[in-house]
Amino acid sequence: MNFRKLKGTYDLTGAESAFRNFIIATIRETAESYGYENIVFPVMEYAELFAHGAGETSDIVVKKEMYTFEDRGGRMIALRPEGTASAVRAYLENNLSQRGYSARLYYIGDMFRAERPQAGRFREFTQFGVENIGDGSPLVDAELIAMNFEILTKLGLDDSKIYLNSIGDLDERAKYLSALQDYFLGKELCEDCRGRLETNALRILDCKNESCRTVIDDAPVMLDFLGEETKAHFEDVKSALDSLGVSYVVDPQIVRGLDYYNRTVFEIKSDALGAQSTMSGGGRYDNMVAEFGGQATPAAGFAIGLERLSMAVSASKDFDTAAFEEGPTLYVAGIGSEVSAKLPSLLKQFRSAGISAATEFRHTKLKKHMNAADKMNAGYVLFVGGDEIEKGIFSLRNMKSGVQTEGSIIDLISALSEE
Ligand code: HAM
Repeated sequence: MNFRKLKGTYDLTGAESAFRNFIIATIRETAESYGYENIVFPVMEYAELFAHGAGETSDIVVKKEMYTFEDRGGRMIALRPEGTASAVRAYLENNLSQRGYSARLYYIGDMFRAERPQAGRFREFTQFGVENIGDGSPLVDAELIAMNFEILTKLGLDDSKIYLNSIGDLDERAKYLSALQDYFLGKELCEDCRGRLETNALRILDCKNESCRTVIDDAPVMLDFLGEETKAHFEDVKSALDSLGVSYVVDPQIVRGLDYYNRTVFEIKSDALGAQSTMSGGGRYDNMVAEFGGQATPAAGFAIGLERLSMAVSASKDFDTAAFEEGPTLYVAGIGSEVSAKLPSLLKQFRSAGISAATEFRHTKLKKHMNAADKMNAGYVLFVGGDEIEKGIFSLRNMKSGVQTEGSIIDLISALSEE
């Protein structure tokens, strides 16, 4: 049998996996420094949750991107295509509104969308998502964007571009939509956009098709349809970003692919990526909690795709990914089969002192051990033969410099700990 992974999925091994863990550690640290807490929710939910959450005219629903199946009870289940609907469902189901403060949640998890795979676009991908449920202040929108940008900056991507827009509240958007429909009617549009004209003309603004682009450039702009309150909200978001020193471009064509947004929306793109240049996106979704049966509660959030983020970081010249090639600090070379039984407790001593240590138990010859330690990128090799065990004095070789030191296990542990 010759098994292969599914199209649009991937494996991460060795340094790639270590690199991913480093990115996740940076993300967690940043989210927690803003007082956000980790939330875990299931990979499977009732499909209705996402159909309702993402909206009837979202790509997830229109392009049938959800992976669904019927369970044994005949219920339609979906692998989550995104996390916002799950976060809101969990917020309501766990009564987080009763805590007396806004829910500040973050999650890192796999999402599934049946899209056509290409560079930067997968069918199973990982999102870091952040949701603030409870605080409708424009300062939350700005803080979320700043947090997103801070993560990118820490990873060497401070040249990423933030595109900001306001798509207004529902009533304002309804007026804008009818103005858009009037404008696009009779214009030359691609087949997808002709469909969008019926379902959600806003999404036409997102079209990448060359012939549509020329028509789109002269389309009415949502910002002209904002009422006083939403206009003031948008102004406050921009001023807060200015005061935080976060640069952005106002782009009236940022509309997002999910239906639940209102007011602030944003996307962050990197030039280092090709066609799939959007690393993250988000905005306000003040209507979802009430739509899911809760009390009207404002909410805002964003998600970063870890695959696109990793691709952009690896492509950035300033970022040195060599560190992720490193193996364990110590390789223990047991020479001769008579010392084998001593190795587990020896390794344990180093590990208990916080020093990563490994060996190939199957090898008993120096040459094989040195070869393995070298390939593994171990920092040091400890030589353990019968003599060493008897005397309690061991040799430790620095694999980079070749320098060798001698001492008891205690001495060597303290030498390594100092390093
Ligand atoms: P989204 O724009 O659909 O928003 O996805 C956010 C990010 O996930 C994208 O910018 C991209 O980096 C990544 N992504 C999406 N689809 C794929 C794919 N097929 N392959 C690789 N990466 C992908 C959301 O999902 C919203 N839930 C974000 C949000 C949170 N809004 C408010 N709160």
